[in-house]
Amino acid sequence: MVRSDSLSHTPSALEVVGRNSASGLGAVATQLGLVVSTAALWRVLYTHPAGLFTYHPSFQSLAVLGFLEGILLLQPQPPNAAYKRKGLQLHQVVQYTSGVAIVAGAAFIVYNKVAHGAKHFTTWHAKSGLLTLILIALQLTFGAVMVYTPLQRLIFKSEERAKKVWKYHRMSGYLTLFFLILTPLLALVSDWVTQNSSKAERWVIGVGLGVAGLGAFGRVQTSKLGLKTR
Ligand code: HEM
Repeated sequence: MVRSDSLSHTPSALEVVGRNSASGLGAVATQLGLVVSTAALWRVLYTHPAGLFTYHPSFQSLAVLGFLEGILLLQPQPPNAAYKRKGLQLHQVVQYTSGVAIVAGAAFIVYNKVAHGAKHFTTWHAKSGLLTLILIALQLTFGAVMVYTPLQRLIFKSEERAKKVWKYHRMSGYLTLFFLILTPLLALVSDWVTQNSSKAERWVIGVGLGVAGLGAFGRVQTSKLGLKTR
């Protein structure tokens, strides 16, 4: 018998983005928050060149934007298996690319500090940033091991049991998202940012980030986290 899944057409990337990442109040709020906060931050960076340091916030803001887009892509229930597959493919590409960006951004700030003989991880921003990096490393490693190695099949035997474990990837994903918003918010009170931006600019960046985070958290499907049965 032919399964109805295999009859449904494979959606294009644009169709999935349109349906999952740009429809509904939460998605639109997140997109607006991201555009506004990223544009306002990049304006500050453009008008206050700071050598190697500039690459740190530039890469990190792109990474935050990317990780959030990767989350939006998977939040709504897919209408069929073809949509689910396409959403997962896009999620992987976007999250691994954002992973490269966040590692690059971290490397620039660590190198810059070493070059200036400055102490590491002294502020709340730096500590929260380190925790964010650790959480992201765990998320990406777990995803890679489960998807690209035979371990998922070997350990869990059935797809049903493997699905239960993805619930924890979702939970830690939202914890990571919390820190992905908190870390740049804490950067807004760092010496460099307060000395190189106006209060209004910091408010616009902060509110934009907050709205982006709230929009994404507002779309959490508690049933997918195993917190509520459907
Ligand atoms: C999720 C995004 C971000 C992460 C994960 C992150 C991570 C980090 C880490 C780990 C450090 C400390 C490095 C060390 O001590 O060796 C640091 C420092 C710093 N970051 Fe970020 N960062 C992020 C976004 C930003 C943004 C958007 C800005 C600017 C608007 C910024 C400004 C700074 C500044 C000024 C420092 C040096 C002072 C300090 O240690 O707090 N960061 N960041």
